[in-house]
Amino acid sequence: MYTPAITGTGVFTPSETITNAELVKAFNAYADLYNTEHADEIAAGTRAAKDHSSEEFIFKASGIEQRYVMVKDGILDPTVMYPKMRQRSDEEPSIMAEMALKAANIALENAGKTAADVGAVICAASNLERAYPAVAIEIQDLLGIEGFAFDMNVACSSATFGIQAAADMIRSGSIRSALVINPEICSAHIEWRDRDCHFIFGDVATATLLEREEDAKGAYFAVKSTRCATSYSNNIRNNNGFLRRSRPDGMKDRRDMQFMQNGRKVFKEVVPMVSDHIAGHMADENLGAQDIKRLWLHQANKGMNDMIGKKVLGRTPEPHEQPNILQDYANTSSAGSIITFAKHSADLKDGDHGFICSFGAGYSVGSVLVEKHG
Ligand code: COA
Repeated sequence: MYTPAITGTGVFTPSETITNAELVKAFNAYADLYNTEHADEIAAGTRAAKDHSSEEFIFKASGIEQRYVMVKDGILDPTVMYPKMRQRSDEEPSIMAEMALKAANIALENAGKTAADVGAVICAASNLERAYPAVAIEIQDLLGIEGFAFDMNVACSSATFGIQAAADMIRSGSIRSALVINPEICSAHIEWRDRDCHFIFGDVATATLLEREEDAKGAYFAVKSTRCATSYSNNIRNNNGFLRRSRPDGMKDRRDMQFMQNGRKVFKEVVPMVSDHIAGHMADENLGAQDIKRLWLHQANKGMNDMIGKKVLGRTPEPHEQPNILQDYANTSSAGSIITFAKHSADLKDGDHGFICSFGAGYSVGSVLVEKHG
Protein backbone atom coordinates (compact mmCIF):
# COMPACT_ATOMS: atom_id res chain seq x y z
CA MET A 1 0.00 0.00 0.00
CA TYR A 2 1.21 3.50 -0.86
CA THR A 3 0.40 6.79 0.85
CA PRO A 4 -1.34 9.23 -1.53
CA ALA A 5 -0.46 12.90 -1.26
CA ILE A 6 -1.65 16.20 -2.66
CA THR A 7 1.49 17.65 -4.19
CA GLY A 8 0.06 20.55 -6.19
CA THR A 9 -3.10 22.58 -6.71
CA GLY A 10 -4.12 25.06 -9.40
CA VAL A 11 -6.87 27.65 -9.67
CA PHE A 12 -7.90 29.18 -12.99
CA THR A 13 -9.93 32.35 -12.38
CA PRO A 14 -11.85 33.82 -15.34
CA SER A 15 -11.12 37.48 -16.15
CA GLU A 16 -14.71 38.77 -16.08
CA THR A 17 -16.42 39.74 -12.81
CA ILE A 18 -19.99 40.65 -11.91
CA THR A 19 -20.50 42.65 -8.71
CA ASN A 20 -23.69 42.43 -6.66
CA ALA A 21 -24.50 46.01 -7.76
CA GLU A 22 -24.29 45.10 -11.47
CA LEU A 23 -26.26 41.92 -10.90
CA VAL A 24 -29.09 43.57 -9.00
CA LYS A 25 -29.35 46.42 -11.51
CA ALA A 26 -29.76 43.93 -14.38
CA PHE A 27 -32.23 41.76 -12.47
CA ASN A 28 -34.37 44.71 -11.50
CA ALA A 29 -34.45 45.92 -15.12
CA TYR A 30 -35.52 42.41 -16.16
CA ALA A 31 -38.23 42.32 -13.45
CA ASP A 32 -39.58 45.72 -14.56
CA LEU A 33 -39.67 44.56 -18.18
CA TYR A 34 -41.44 41.33 -17.19
CA ASN A 35 -44.00 43.14 -15.05
CA THR A 36 -44.75 45.58 -17.88
CA GLU A 37 -45.08 42.77 -20.43
CA HIS A 38 -47.49 40.87 -18.19
CA ALA A 39 -49.26 43.87 -16.65
CA ASP A 40 -52.77 42.65 -17.55
CA GLU A 41 -52.33 39.20 -16.04
CA ILE A 42 -50.65 40.64 -12.97
CA ALA A 43 -53.56 43.08 -12.54
CA ALA A 44 -56.05 40.21 -12.99
CA GLY A 45 -54.22 38.17 -10.34
CA THR A 46 -53.44 35.28 -12.74
CA ARG A 47 -49.69 35.88 -12.71
CA ALA A 48 -47.35 36.93 -9.91
CA ALA A 49 -45.33 40.11 -10.35
CA LYS A 50 -41.55 39.83 -9.95
CA ASP A 51 -40.07 41.60 -6.92
CA HIS A 52 -36.80 43.48 -7.04
CA SER A 53 -33.58 41.91 -5.82
CA SER A 54 -31.33 43.70 -3.34
CA GLU A 55 -27.59 43.96 -2.72
CA GLU A 56 -28.13 44.12 1.04
CA PHE A 57 -30.11 40.86 1.02
CA ILE A 58 -27.53 39.04 -1.07
CA PHE A 59 -24.59 39.98 1.14
CA LYS A 60 -26.47 39.40 4.38
CA ALA A 61 -28.00 36.06 3.34
CA SER A 62 -24.92 34.59 1.65
CA GLY A 63 -21.72 36.62 2.26
CA ILE A 64 -21.21 36.88 -1.53
CA GLU A 65 -19.89 40.20 -2.94
CA GLN A 66 -19.03 39.30 -6.54
CA ARG A 67 -18.53 36.35 -8.89
CA TYR A 68 -16.29 35.51 -11.88
CA VAL A 69 -17.82 34.35 -15.17
CA MET A 70 -16.37 32.90 -18.37
CA VAL A 71 -18.72 34.91 -20.61
CA LYS A 72 -20.34 38.08 -19.30
CA ASP A 73 -22.09 38.99 -22.55
CA GLY A 74 -25.84 38.37 -22.20
CA ILE A 75 -26.02 37.80 -18.43
CA LEU A 76 -26.71 41.44 -17.62
CA ASP A 77 -28.93 42.10 -20.65
CA PRO A 78 -32.52 42.12 -19.30
CA THR A 79 -33.74 40.69 -22.61
CA VAL A 80 -31.27 37.75 -22.50
CA MET A 81 -30.22 36.82 -18.90
CA TYR A 82 -27.79 33.97 -19.74
CA PRO A 83 -24.17 33.88 -20.99
CA LYS A 84 -24.02 34.04 -24.79
CA MET A 85 -21.25 31.60 -25.66
CA ARG A 86 -19.86 31.11 -29.13
CA GLN A 87 -20.32 27.78 -30.90
CA ARG A 88 -17.01 25.88 -30.92
CA SER A 89 -16.19 23.39 -33.64
CA ASP A 90 -15.59 19.78 -32.60
CA GLU A 91 -11.98 20.20 -33.67
CA GLU A 92 -11.14 22.90 -31.11
CA PRO A 93 -10.88 22.44 -27.33
CA SER A 94 -14.19 22.57 -25.53
CA ILE A 95 -14.63 25.41 -23.03
CA MET A 96 -14.46 23.05 -20.03
CA ALA A 97 -11.28 21.45 -21.32
CA GLU A 98 -9.75 24.89 -21.93
CA MET A 99 -10.45 25.98 -18.34
CA ALA A 100 -9.32 22.63 -16.96
CA LEU A 101 -6.05 22.81 -18.86
CA LYS A 102 -5.17 26.17 -17.31
CA ALA A 103 -5.84 24.91 -13.77
CA ALA A 104 -4.01 21.64 -14.45
CA ASN A 105 -0.89 23.37 -15.74
CA ILE A 106 -0.73 25.53 -12.60
CA ALA A 107 -1.11 22.44 -10.37
CA LEU A 108 1.67 20.62 -12.28
CA GLU A 109 3.97 23.64 -12.04
CA ASN A 110 3.31 23.96 -8.30
CA ALA A 111 4.25 20.32 -7.83
CA GLY A 112 7.33 20.60 -10.07
CA LYS A 113 5.90 17.93 -12.37
CA THR A 114 4.94 17.55 -16.03
CA ALA A 115 2.17 15.69 -17.85
CA ALA A 116 4.58 12.76 -18.24
CA ASP A 117 4.34 12.22 -14.46
CA VAL A 118 0.54 11.85 -14.49
CA GLY A 119 -1.22 8.47 -14.83
CA ALA A 120 -4.90 9.43 -14.86
CA VAL A 121 -7.29 12.36 -15.20
CA ILE A 122 -10.61 12.66 -13.41
CA CYS A 123 -12.86 15.50 -14.52
CA ALA A 124 -15.16 15.90 -11.53
CA ALA A 125 -17.79 18.61 -11.92
CA SER A 126 -21.43 19.37 -11.25
CA ASN A 127 -22.23 19.82 -14.93
CA LEU A 128 -20.56 18.30 -17.96
CA GLU A 129 -20.97 20.11 -21.22
CA ARG A 130 -21.70 16.99 -23.29
CA ALA A 131 -22.53 13.35 -22.80
CA TYR A 132 -19.45 11.96 -24.57
CA PRO A 133 -16.60 11.65 -25.31
CA ALA A 134 -15.62 12.33 -21.71
CA VAL A 135 -14.28 15.83 -21.13
CA ALA A 136 -11.58 14.16 -19.01
CA ILE A 137 -10.31 12.25 -22.06
CA GLU A 138 -10.14 15.48 -24.04
CA ILE A 139 -8.12 17.07 -21.20
CA GLN A 140 -5.89 13.99 -21.10
CA ASP A 141 -5.29 14.32 -24.84
CA LEU A 142 -4.60 18.07 -24.71
CA LEU A 143 -2.08 17.59 -21.89
CA GLY A 144 -0.48 14.55 -23.58
CA ILE A 145 -1.06 12.22 -20.63
CA GLU A 146 -0.85 8.45 -21.03
CA GLY A 147 -3.11 6.12 -19.06
CA PHE A 148 -6.82 6.80 -18.69
CA ALA A 149 -9.40 9.44 -17.88
CA PHE A 150 -13.04 9.63 -16.89
CA ASP A 151 -15.75 12.10 -15.93
CA MET A 152 -17.72 12.00 -12.73
CA ASN A 153 -20.48 14.13 -11.27
CA VAL A 154 -21.43 14.37 -7.61
CA ALA A 155 -22.52 18.02 -7.89
CA CYS A 156 -20.82 20.28 -5.32
CA SER A 157 -19.11 17.26 -3.72
CA SER A 158 -17.40 16.19 -6.95
CA ALA A 159 -13.91 17.35 -5.88
CA THR A 160 -13.70 15.33 -2.67
CA PHE A 161 -15.33 12.27 -4.24
CA GLY A 162 -12.79 12.59 -7.08
CA ILE A 163 -9.93 12.89 -4.58
CA GLN A 164 -11.18 9.76 -2.78
CA ALA A 165 -11.27 7.83 -6.09
CA ALA A 166 -7.76 9.00 -7.03
CA ALA A 167 -6.34 8.44 -3.53
CA ASP A 168 -7.74 4.90 -3.39
CA MET A 169 -6.21 4.04 -6.77
CA ILE A 170 -2.83 5.46 -5.71
CA ARG A 171 -3.02 3.63 -2.36
CA SER A 172 -3.68 0.30 -4.06
CA GLY A 173 -1.00 0.81 -6.71
CA SER A 174 -3.24 0.74 -9.80
CA ILE A 175 -2.00 4.25 -10.66
CA ARG A 176 0.94 6.31 -9.47
CA SER A 177 -0.64 9.75 -9.83
CA ALA A 178 -3.79 11.54 -10.96
CA LEU A 179 -5.08 14.99 -11.74
CA VAL A 180 -8.53 15.66 -10.30
CA ILE A 181 -9.93 18.66 -12.17
CA ASN A 182 -13.09 20.66 -11.46
CA PRO A 183 -14.07 23.00 -14.31
CA GLU A 184 -17.28 24.66 -13.18
CA ILE A 185 -19.32 26.85 -15.55
CA CYS A 186 -22.10 27.52 -13.08
CA SER A 187 -23.11 30.69 -14.97
CA ALA A 188 -24.70 28.46 -17.62
CA HIS A 189 -26.94 26.44 -15.28
CA ILE A 190 -27.99 29.12 -12.82
CA GLU A 191 -31.33 30.84 -13.51
CA TRP A 192 -30.38 34.52 -13.69
CA ARG A 193 -34.11 35.39 -13.89
CA ASP A 194 -34.86 34.00 -10.40
CA ARG A 195 -34.05 36.43 -7.58
CA ASP A 196 -33.95 33.57 -5.03
CA CYS A 197 -30.81 32.17 -6.63
CA HIS A 198 -29.47 34.60 -9.27
CA PHE A 199 -26.62 35.67 -6.97
CA ILE A 200 -25.41 32.24 -5.92
CA PHE A 201 -22.92 30.98 -8.48
CA GLY A 202 -19.69 31.85 -10.29
CA ASP A 203 -17.27 30.16 -12.72
CA VAL A 204 -13.77 28.78 -12.03
CA ALA A 205 -11.62 25.70 -12.58
CA THR A 206 -9.47 23.95 -9.98
CA ALA A 207 -7.01 21.09 -10.27
CA THR A 208 -5.45 18.85 -7.63
CA LEU A 209 -2.43 16.67 -8.35
CA LEU A 210 -2.28 13.49 -6.27
CA GLU A 211 0.84 11.33 -6.25
CA ARG A 212 2.55 8.71 -4.16
CA GLU A 213 4.01 10.46 -1.11
CA GLU A 214 7.52 9.33 -2.10
CA ASP A 215 7.20 11.11 -5.48
CA ALA A 216 6.62 14.56 -3.95
CA LYS A 217 9.32 17.07 -4.87
CA GLY A 218 8.54 19.68 -2.22
CA ALA A 219 6.15 20.23 0.66
CA TYR A 220 2.96 18.18 0.34
CA PHE A 221 -0.22 17.12 2.11
CA ALA A 222 -0.48 13.39 2.82
CA VAL A 223 -4.04 12.11 2.37
CA LYS A 224 -4.56 10.29 5.68
CA SER A 225 -8.13 9.18 4.94
CA THR A 226 -11.30 10.11 3.07
CA ARG A 227 -15.02 9.69 3.79
CA CYS A 228 -17.92 10.09 1.36
CA ALA A 229 -21.64 9.91 2.12
CA THR A 230 -24.89 10.51 0.22
CA SER A 231 -28.56 10.77 1.13
CA TYR A 232 -31.24 11.36 -1.53
CA SER A 233 -32.97 14.75 -1.59
CA ASN A 234 -34.88 16.77 -4.18
CA ASN A 235 -34.07 20.07 -2.49
CA ILE A 236 -31.32 20.86 -5.02
CA ARG A 237 -32.27 19.67 -8.48
CA ASN A 238 -31.78 20.29 -12.20
CA ASN A 239 -33.98 18.28 -14.61
CA ASN A 240 -32.06 19.06 -17.80
CA GLY A 241 -30.93 15.94 -19.62
CA PHE A 242 -31.04 13.87 -22.78
CA LEU A 243 -34.68 12.81 -22.28
CA ARG A 244 -35.75 16.43 -22.60
CA ARG A 245 -36.64 16.26 -26.31
CA SER A 246 -38.69 13.08 -25.84
CA ARG A 247 -41.02 14.47 -23.20
CA PRO A 248 -44.10 16.69 -23.58
CA ASP A 249 -43.05 20.35 -23.28
CA GLY A 250 -39.49 19.17 -22.75
CA MET A 251 -38.03 21.75 -25.12
CA LYS A 252 -39.91 24.68 -23.58
CA ASP A 253 -38.16 27.40 -21.58
CA ARG A 254 -38.82 25.58 -18.32
CA ARG A 255 -37.68 26.68 -14.87
CA ASP A 256 -36.66 23.14 -13.89
CA MET A 257 -34.08 22.96 -16.70
CA GLN A 258 -31.78 25.19 -14.62
CA PHE A 259 -30.59 24.97 -11.02
CA MET A 260 -33.44 24.86 -8.51
CA GLN A 261 -33.26 24.69 -4.76
CA ASN A 262 -35.20 25.05 -1.58
CA GLY A 263 -32.45 27.12 0.03
CA ARG A 264 -33.88 27.26 3.55
CA LYS A 265 -34.30 23.45 3.71
CA VAL A 266 -30.85 22.91 2.25
CA PHE A 267 -29.35 25.16 4.90
CA LYS A 268 -31.21 23.41 7.73
CA GLU A 269 -30.59 19.84 6.58
CA VAL A 270 -27.06 20.08 5.23
CA VAL A 271 -25.45 21.88 8.20
CA PRO A 272 -26.06 18.96 10.65
CA MET A 273 -25.27 16.38 7.96
CA VAL A 274 -21.86 17.95 7.30
CA SER A 275 -21.04 18.68 10.95
CA ASP A 276 -21.85 15.08 11.95
CA HIS A 277 -19.92 13.75 8.97
CA ILE A 278 -16.73 15.61 9.90
CA ALA A 279 -17.18 14.76 13.59
CA GLY A 280 -17.50 11.07 12.64
CA HIS A 281 -14.41 11.24 10.47
CA MET A 282 -12.48 12.89 13.33
CA ALA A 283 -13.65 10.23 15.81
CA ASP A 284 -12.60 7.42 13.44
CA GLU A 285 -9.14 8.99 13.32
CA ASN A 286 -8.98 9.62 17.09
CA LEU A 287 -8.64 13.35 16.49
CA GLY A 288 -10.08 16.04 18.73
CA ALA A 289 -10.94 19.61 17.80
CA GLN A 290 -7.54 20.71 19.15
CA ASP A 291 -5.84 18.53 16.51
CA ILE A 292 -7.49 20.30 13.54
CA LYS A 293 -5.58 23.32 12.31
CA ARG A 294 -7.81 24.18 9.35
CA LEU A 295 -11.17 23.53 7.71
CA TRP A 296 -11.34 24.14 3.97
CA LEU A 297 -15.10 24.00 3.50
CA HIS A 298 -17.36 24.06 0.45
CA GLN A 299 -18.15 27.68 -0.37
CA ALA A 300 -21.94 28.07 -0.64
CA ASN A 301 -22.94 30.30 2.23
CA LYS A 302 -20.95 32.11 4.92
CA GLY A 303 -23.60 31.51 7.59
CA MET A 304 -23.57 27.79 6.82
CA ASN A 305 -19.79 27.59 7.08
CA ASP A 306 -19.76 29.56 10.35
CA MET A 307 -22.22 27.07 11.87
CA ILE A 308 -20.33 24.01 10.60
CA GLY A 309 -17.00 25.43 11.84
CA LYS A 310 -18.46 26.12 15.26
CA LYS A 311 -19.99 22.65 15.58
CA VAL A 312 -16.83 20.88 14.48
CA LEU A 313 -14.40 22.87 16.65
CA GLY A 314 -16.79 23.38 19.57
CA ARG A 315 -16.13 27.14 19.50
CA THR A 316 -16.21 29.99 16.99
CA PRO A 317 -13.28 29.35 14.63
CA GLU A 318 -10.71 32.11 14.11
CA PRO A 319 -10.99 33.44 10.53
CA HIS A 320 -7.68 31.77 9.56
CA GLU A 321 -8.91 28.39 10.87
CA GLN A 322 -11.90 28.31 8.52
CA PRO A 323 -11.11 30.65 5.62
CA ASN A 324 -13.75 31.63 3.06
CA ILE A 325 -13.34 32.73 -0.54
CA LEU A 326 -17.04 32.98 -1.44
CA GLN A 327 -17.07 36.75 -1.00
CA ASP A 328 -14.92 36.96 -4.17
CA TYR A 329 -15.91 33.82 -6.10
CA ALA A 330 -19.51 33.11 -4.92
CA ASN A 331 -20.46 29.42 -4.93
CA THR A 332 -18.27 27.67 -7.50
CA SER A 333 -19.81 24.27 -6.84
CA SER A 334 -17.21 21.50 -6.53
CA ALA A 335 -14.28 23.91 -6.91
CA GLY A 336 -14.99 26.01 -3.79
CA SER A 337 -13.21 23.94 -1.13
CA ILE A 338 -10.23 23.45 -3.47
CA ILE A 339 -9.86 27.20 -4.15
CA THR A 340 -9.86 27.70 -0.37
CA PHE A 341 -7.30 24.92 0.11
CA ALA A 342 -5.09 26.24 -2.70
CA LYS A 343 -5.11 29.80 -1.36
CA HIS A 344 -4.98 29.09 2.39
CA SER A 345 -2.75 26.10 3.07
CA ALA A 346 0.87 27.13 2.44
CA ASP A 347 1.31 28.49 5.99
CA LEU A 348 0.50 25.18 7.73
CA LYS A 349 3.42 23.56 9.55
CA ASP A 350 4.87 20.08 9.32
CA GLY A 351 2.49 17.66 11.06
CA ASP A 352 -0.56 19.98 10.98
CA HIS A 353 -3.90 18.35 10.13
CA GLY A 354 -6.87 19.80 8.29
CA PHE A 355 -10.05 18.75 6.51
CA ILE A 356 -11.08 19.55 2.95
CA CYS A 357 -14.85 19.15 2.91
CA SER A 358 -17.36 19.63 0.12
CA PHE A 359 -21.11 19.14 0.22
CA GLY A 360 -24.25 19.83 -1.78
CA ALA A 361 -26.80 18.30 -4.12
CA GLY A 362 -27.63 14.63 -3.72
CA TYR A 363 -27.35 15.34 -0.80
CA SER A 364 -23.67 14.52 -0.78
CA VAL A 365 -20.72 15.19 1.52
CA GLY A 366 -17.06 14.28 1.19
CA SER A 367 -14.19 14.91 3.61
CA VAL A 368 -10.45 14.50 3.09
CA LEU A 369 -8.14 14.46 6.11
CA VAL A 370 -4.71 15.79 5.15
CA GLU A 371 -1.42 16.15 7.05
CA LYS A 372 1.19 18.69 6.02
CA HIS A 373 4.71 17.43 5.36
CA GLY A 374 7.64 19.73 4.82
N1 COA B 1 -33.35 40.08 -2.87
C1 COA B 1 -34.21 40.48 -1.91
N2 COA B 1 -35.00 39.63 -1.24
C2 COA B 1 -34.92 38.33 -1.53
C3 COA B 1 -34.05 37.85 -2.53
C4 COA B 1 -33.24 38.78 -3.22
N3 COA B 1 -32.39 38.41 -4.17
N4 COA B 1 -34.17 36.50 -2.61
C5 COA B 1 -35.10 36.15 -1.72
N5 COA B 1 -35.56 37.24 -1.06
C6 COA B 1 -36.58 37.30 -0.01
C7 COA B 1 -37.49 36.10 -0.04
O1 COA B 1 -38.54 36.28 -0.95
C8 COA B 1 -37.96 36.02 1.39
O2 COA B 1 -38.99 36.96 1.60
P1 COA B 1 -40.19 36.62 2.59
O3 COA B 1 -39.56 36.47 3.95
O4 COA B 1 -41.06 37.81 2.46
O5 COA B 1 -40.79 35.35 2.09
C9 COA B 1 -36.74 36.50 2.20
O6 COA B 1 -35.94 37.25 1.27
C10 COA B 1 -35.94 35.36 2.75
O7 COA B 1 -35.70 34.40 1.70
P2 COA B 1 -35.05 33.01 1.96
O8 COA B 1 -34.96 32.26 0.66
O9 COA B 1 -35.72 32.32 3.10
O10 COA B 1 -33.60 33.49 2.38
P3 COA B 1 -32.47 32.74 3.17
O11 COA B 1 -32.11 33.52 4.33
O12 COA B 1 -32.77 31.28 3.35
O13 COA B 1 -31.23 32.83 2.15
C11 COA B 1 -30.04 31.45 0.60
C12 COA B 1 -31.32 32.24 0.87
C13 COA B 1 -30.19 30.72 -0.74
C14 COA B 1 -28.86 32.39 0.53
C15 COA B 1 -29.80 30.41 1.74
O14 COA B 1 -30.99 29.74 2.02
C16 COA B 1 -28.74 29.41 1.43
O15 COA B 1 -27.60 29.75 1.15
N6 COA B 1 -29.07 28.11 1.54
C17 COA B 1 -28.15 27.06 1.30
C18 COA B 1 -27.90 27.02 -0.16
C19 COA B 1 -26.90 25.98 -0.56
O16 COA B 1 -25.96 25.70 0.09
N7 COA B 1 -27.15 25.43 -1.70
C20 COA B 1 -26.26 24.53 -2.27
C21 COA B 1 -26.13 24.93 -3.66
S1 COA B 1 -25.04 23.85 -4.42
